[in-house]
Amino acid sequence: MDSQIAADAASTSTIVILDFGSQYTQLIARRIREFNVFSVVLPCTAPLSDVLALNPKGIVLSGGPCSVYDADAPAADPKVLATGLPILGICYGLQFITHHLGGKVHPADKREYGHARVQIASHNRLFAGLPQEINVWMSHGDSAVNLPEGFTQTAQTSSALASIANEEKRIWAVQFHPEVNHSEKGSELLRNFVIDICGAKPDWTPEHFIQSTVERVRAQVGPKGHAICGLSGGVDSSVAAVLVHKAIGDRLTCIFVNNGVLRKDEFAKVQATMREKLGLKVIAVDAGKRFLSRLSGITDPEAKRKIIGNEFIAVFDDEAEKILKDLETKGVAEHDAEGNEVAWLVQGTLYPDVIESSSVKGPSQTIKSHHNVGGLPENMKLKLIEPLRDLFKDEVRRIGRDLGMPEEILERQPFPGPGLAVRILGEITPERVAILQEADAVVVEEIKAAGLYRQLWQSFAVLLPVKTVGVMGDQRTYAYTCAIRAVTSEDGMTADWAPLPYEVLKTISSRIVNEVRGINRVVYDITSKPPGTIEWE
Ligand code: XMP
Repeated sequence: MDSQIAADAASTSTIVILDFGSQYTQLIARRIREFNVFSVVLPCTAPLSDVLALNPKGIVLSGGPCSVYDADAPAADPKVLATGLPILGICYGLQFITHHLGGKVHPADKREYGHARVQIASHNRLFAGLPQEINVWMSHGDSAVNLPEGFTQTAQTSSALASIANEEKRIWAVQFHPEVNHSEKGSELLRNFVIDICGAKPDWTPEHFIQSTVERVRAQVGPKGHAICGLSGGVDSSVAAVLVHKAIGDRLTCIFVNNGVLRKDEFAKVQATMREKLGLKVIAVDAGKRFLSRLSGITDPEAKRKIIGNEFIAVFDDEAEKILKDLETKGVAEHDAEGNEVAWLVQGTLYPDVIESSSVKGPSQTIKSHHNVGGLPENMKLKLIEPLRDLFKDEVRRIGRDLGMPEEILERQPFPGPGLAVRILGEITPERVAILQEADAVVVEEIKAAGLYRQLWQSFAVLLPVKTVGVMGDQRTYAYTCAIRAVTSEDGMTADWAPLPYEVLKTISSRIVNEVRGINRVVYDITSKPPGTIEWE
């Protein structure tokens, strides 16, 4: 067990979440953080002694992709149900409770998710303050048919059991997912469990997170260690860098690489902000030409991502090596037992990056290979620090605000690591990059002017390799099509296309066609995620 987690758990009320593999497990943790309560996600296989060592106020059993009857069903210790601590089972958690306490679960062939209307049959403490009926996000799969002794059914949908409880044993369980946004009153239900039933103290604030992270980083890096951070100019890497800078000061060196597919003027602007406003030590590397020559002739989206990822690592490696050499020359380098020089690598990885990049068993398969996770060569002498790995974007913004960072950085919409490369469909050429940079700048300007920038998760232009015929003045034109994408989202994992006002679309379209040479047609993308992704590649 991480000693900092143990220290955090000792200083405040803790809820332990046992993870049975659901893609929503971290959302449960996040909801609990929203109540300012500390929570720790442990694998469901964690020994009971580890769970109890954290002195939790209550335990949540997460959902998961398996059936309790699967041969490889997660092997959690059923003794967790006999601790006397309050327990909340969610989805698979409900089946785990039913199965291990002597009830019966009816297996189903497959699991499906969808909306359901739940009728609350008995208003127990979990449902306090909730209306009689709520719309929820339900996972349909196995269902409990015989309840264990002492349990009653407390809610149902038109066709299935939705909740059970044994208040005497302090065990509650729901078949639906209160942690997802689509579940009405889900947060209230979780609050009832965490605050009222478990009696957790709501004193875990962003300040605590900052303090605890700074202490953890300081301990990890040690009094003399050095760290390197790749800055992208976005919220995540900036907040990660500022946190680590707070812990170790100028023993952190940041590297900012122009990969040739940044936005208009970004290379200069980001450098200025990072140095002047955040006080970070930044090495800026203009490798634009090197990236674009590697990308020449490449049209496959994954190939583009891989090239940019690999090239980034190569550039980064060169710079890191120079930094390490410099430390060695100055006699301040650290070495491992074999005499190798070592340092730390800071990354602003967030939870959605982790879940979308790892093929854990279950519904979260690799969808796109995000270059900022998992691309590092194995022999790199840099050890990873990922201070934001458990957080979602809006939580990172909150932390940044508490760190006193400027709004212009915190409010920046996400920008993917592979930059405009995944927004230029087909081949990437310097000419196309320049065209898209101009179109993108128009979109950002107009969205900001309309006061919509902060409400949207992302708004950007995509350059299509499709030429269409137009007419300008008396001239026939034959030029590229540009798609506008604007989405709302809470965490980037799901998104809705934004119903931008027609006036805004009209201005964007007319400015792009008039001001950006090379584009003569603008279309608007009305696809949500799922089934679309936010970026086009
Ligand atoms: P998709 O396109 O997968 O994107 O729906 C979800 C969110 O992730 C961002 N994104 C990336 N971020 N490296 C990043 O740092 C990447 O390779 C990458 N690909 C997508 C995307 O902009 C959206 O916010």
